[in-house]
Amino acid sequence: MNLKKFGILMTAAALAAALGAVAVTALLVNIFHRQEEARNPFMRVVQVTDETVDPAEWGKNFPMQYDQYRKTADMERTRHGGSEALPHNPTAADPRTVVTQSKIELDPRLKRMWAGYAFAIDFREERGHAYMLDDQTYTERHKKPQFGNCIHCHGSVYVPYKKLGNGDLMEGFAKMCAMPYAEARTLVEHPVACIDCHDPETMQLRVTRPGFLEGIRAKMKAERGIENYDPNTMATRQEMRSFVCGQCHVEYHFRPEDKRLVYPWFNGIKADQELAYYDEIGFKDWVHAETGAPMLKTQHPEFEMWSEGTHARAGVACADCHMPYMRVGGLKISDHHVRSPLLNINNSCQTCHKAPEEELLARAERIQDKTAEMKDKALGALMELIDALVEAQGRGVAEASLEAARLAQRRATFLIDFVEAENSTGFHAPQEAARVLFTAMDHLRQGQKALTQPVAAAPVPAPEAAPAPEAAPAPTEAPAAPAAPQS
Ligand code: HEC
Ligand code: HEC
Ligand code: HEC
Ligand code: HEC
Ligand code: HEC
Repeated sequence: MNLKKFGILMTAAALAAALGAVAVTALLVNIFHRQEEARNPFMRVVQVTDETVDPAEWGKNFPMQYDQYRKTADMERTRHGGSEALPHNPTAADPRTVVTQSKIELDPRLKRMWAGYAFAIDFREERGHAYMLDDQTYTERHKKPQFGNCIHCHGSVYVPYKKLGNGDLMEGFAKMCAMPYAEARTLVEHPVACIDCHDPETMQLRVTRPGFLEGIRAKMKAERGIENYDPNTMATRQEMRSFVCGQCHVEYHFRPEDKRLVYPWFNGIKADQELAYYDEIGFKDWVHAETGAPMLKTQHPEFEMWSEGTHARAGVACADCHMPYMRVGGLKISDHHVRSPLLNINNSCQTCHKAPEEELLARAERIQDKTAEMKDKALGALMELIDALVEAQGRGVAEASLEAARLAQRRATFLIDFVEAENSTGFHAPQEAARVLFTAMDHLRQGQKALTQPVAAAPVPAPEAAPAPEAAPAPTEAPAAPAAPQS
């Protein structure tokens, strides 16, 4: 190598090293700032403890996060998500001046899907975290008596649970679950607050919700054979960036004997695994008003659906899209304005995807439009099964055939609702949403088939004695509906 070439090489190397150093310094400064924000005790203006519920107190130490947190009161629509502010005449019973769109009025088929259940009375589009306690307090679903178990995911319950349990979180949880709603409601003051996701000493993420702590333990045992899993000591930081949301954005049920809130993750957390669990324990949320089928209501399984998607597989957490980093002055913070990422594509998506904003929006909406179309067809098919069941009940079809069709109704409803109640309209896991709807269609097909069996020769029970089976049929093995008798 000649000297001139060597000189150029050296200069280039020096330049690269210098640039590298700048980059490393920038990174260090960045990390330093973030650690400073997160951990430096000198920045503390006030002392917050494990008893400080009020987010305004925490906000004195972390004003930027607090300002963003308060913006969850904003309302803005997207094509399939976000929320729209509708004026509401305040009354003594419901003092809200603004509510969201009623979903059962937008699609009356939902009312029929849930006939006989509280969701057929009032079910609205969800909105930002600032409203969670009020929207629960004033929903007309209270026309059916509710319990303190509701509040687990709608209020800052960590300190109230500990007080109620004389220092024991789990004990307080069990007690509040069993209280009448109105009584439990007086013990809680704030929507989800800093203390629910952060350790006040270190500001590290933590999980405080008993339902999730028990649920994730069951999940880890079922899926990975891990005993006594504890997210607060065993999860990675990236896992915690989803677990804090999985505390509430999950399917759940209330254990009939003591009203305890339980996440149905004993077989795993896929839609059909949850359904199999409910079948095994013979659980039902209600009995369908038209057909007497033992029914299940699915609710907001975002954590479950996300788990099955490409983003989760690639290690992308809820917080990456819903709480992306943002710049405030010279600092980089996590955006505590939790909302639809489609209102914030620049920070939420373009950090990883180099496509233009309109293109990313179009990709997301294409997934959502297709999911909505599939869901629409599945709901139509479900209405047809309900029609066929009602007609067959009047016609005196054999009880075993009716039972098979009711079981198909129960299972298909749970699966269709798994996509309906999942608030990303398929985005979190497009292929999984399609698979779940496809499985629902298969149950509906089997239900219809059961009803085409000829009318039984033997006398059948009178129609009024026929419906409303007491316990769910609970087949433990076969996921398929039992075959109707051939006569
Ligand atoms: C790759 C990015 C990404 C990840 C990761 C992600 N989401 Fe989403 N999420 C979205 C998009 C996009 C939507 C659709 C928003 C819309 O329709 O306006 C959405 C919708 C939602 C909605 C409804 C929002 C609305 O405005 O109606 C909720 C709730 C939600 N996600 C929770 C979660 C939870 C909980 C997790 C983790 C378990 C998660 N998301 C992971 C991108 C993401
Ligand atoms: C496991 C956590 C959890 C429990 C328990 C829970 N919720 Fe919710 N709730 C949520 C989440 C997450 C949302 C937002 C997503 C959605 O609406 O799908 C929500 C939304 C709502 C809304 C606003 C949208 C709507 O449905 O009209 C109301 C009202 C509500 N819940 C009432 C209740 C009542 C009443 C109970 C008790 C029977 C209850 N919640 C129990 C997590 C929970
Ligand atoms: C304590 C329970 C709880 C936790 C923890 C929680 N959420 Fe929520 N979330 C709710 C409830 C309840 C609502 C609906 C509030 C309403 O409609 O009044 C909601 C609403 C939302 C919405 C809808 C906002 C909109 O404008 O439509 C998004 C998005 C969301 N949550 C994402 C997340 C993410 C991401 C996390 C974790 C960083 C998270 N949530 C943690 C209970 C929770
Ligand atoms: C629903 C859960 C949740 C709630 C509620 C919440 N945070 Fe956070 N917070 C997060 C997540 C997720 C991160 C990112 C942490 C990480 O990546 O390790 C974070 C990070 C932070 C950080 C570290 C610096 C940064 O911005 O990344 C601070 C400080 C913070 N939050 C303050 C607050 C304050 C103050 C409140 C109440 C006003 C609050 N948080 C409420 C989930 C939450
Ligand atoms: C932290 C990085 C990260 C963020 C943030 C992120 N993505 Fe992705 N996204 C990925 C990765 C990784 C894949 C898998 C494909 C790949 O490896 O390129 C992917 C795949 C996708 C796919 C195709 C897979 C599918 O599920 O259909 C779409 C569409 C997509 N992203 C859209 C978005 C949108 C819209 C946002 C913002 C709401 C977003 N992404 C945010 C990293 C990210």
